[in-house]
Amino acid sequence: MPRSFWSRIDKDDCDKGNTVNSDDIECRRYEELLEEFVELCEGLVERGLPYLAVILCHELYRFLYPVEPYANFTNTEPVGFVIGHIKRLIKSGQSFSKSVVPYDVNLSLFSCCKEEQTLEKSTSALYSELWGGFDTDDLTNESFRLLTSRLPKHIIEENIVGKKVLDMGCGSGRYSIALARVGAGQVIGVDLQSKSFAVAKQWCEDNNLSVQFEEGNVHQLPFNDNVFDFVFCNGVLHHTDSIEKGLQELSRVLKRSGKAFLYLYASGGVFWTTRRALRRIFKRIPIAYTKSVLQMIGMPSKRFVFCDTWYVPQETHTTRKQLTEMLERTGFSCDKIIGNNMFDLDAAIERDVTDAKKMWGDGEHRYILELQ
Ligand SMILES: C[S@@+](CC[C@H](N)C(=O)[O-])C[C@H]1O[C@@H](n2cnc3c(N)ncnc32)[C@H](O)[C@@H]1O
Repeated sequence: MPRSFWSRIDKDDCDKGNTVNSDDIECRRYEELLEEFVELCEGLVERGLPYLAVILCHELYRFLYPVEPYANFTNTEPVGFVIGHIKRLIKSGQSFSKSVVPYDVNLSLFSCCKEEQTLEKSTSALYSELWGGFDTDDLTNESFRLLTSRLPKHIIEENIVGKKVLDMGCGSGRYSIALARVGAGQVIGVDLQSKSFAVAKQWCEDNNLSVQFEEGNVHQLPFNDNVFDFVFCNGVLHHTDSIEKGLQELSRVLKRSGKAFLYLYASGGVFWTTRRALRRIFKRIPIAYTKSVLQMIGMPSKRFVFCDTWYVPQETHTTRKQLTEMLERTGFSCDKIIGNNMFDLDAAIERDVTDAKKMWGDGEHRYILELQ
């Protein structure tokens, strides 16, 4: 029964990746419910209730993580929970939509942004807007906490402190700041356009922290070969049209004796499958509308992960096997690392949470890379 649903999703050219279409009976049940949920939301958008579709998607998505700190909730039996949760959401959506008479919503009024011509332009337009929701604490303290909880201590001490470090696809510059704060000798952050790191640049100037920011494309970095001791590349290459090309560029600028940190989305399980399915719904709703609904329901502006996930033009999901083969082809050996962050999918898989593989598939890819 879910076959047509998955083949429909696989046709989506924005999303490359595998679904874990498991033989497991619970997963099959979830897949059927997810199909029903997506169709319900698409219908709500058509019937003039897009705000309800946004709220339902937000409610489903926020409980797919190992923890939902804003609800003081830890997902100890994730698959069982999410099956019950999606059923309740479908029922509420159906009953609410029967009880209200919608106004005529003109969504085109929210499509304020011009259509960008290239993947790079539309990606940087999205992110430079989303980083605006970050405050100084996110830029400085939170990224420092995340960096030090995810990277092994010996890597920081031996490969970052006093070294020349590239933050490849630095976005808001939050990790460039964190890398400088843990003691890197020199940090250069590169992203598609300077608007995204303007606030960080100012903060560094005001606080006498030496970080350099430059515009550049991770597929064509503006640096000579073999110049960096450490390259930090967090959540970037899956938003380009070729992860492999990015890895080749990373390998080019890294010193032979250097190391790198790579974070990429993985694939499979209820989590990644749902994430891909929800992206279909948001093709019908302008981001400005979604942001205003999320703001209206009180979602903290720094939780941009929802809009990021639903609107980023390119999101490639890779299995662990696909990535390790790609790393081998590009000349890297890799060490998987698992930090102690409750939020991370890998940490939940490692903790052996019930049905963790069914829920989070291959989790997330966090690796320390070395040139072979
Ligand atoms: C999810 S954000 C991650 C940003 C940052 N590494 C962090 O973890 O905070 C993805 C970033 O990749 C950047 N990006 C995507 N494609 C890029 C490209 N081809 N060249 C440079 N940056 C790119 C985006 O502009 C965006 O800032």
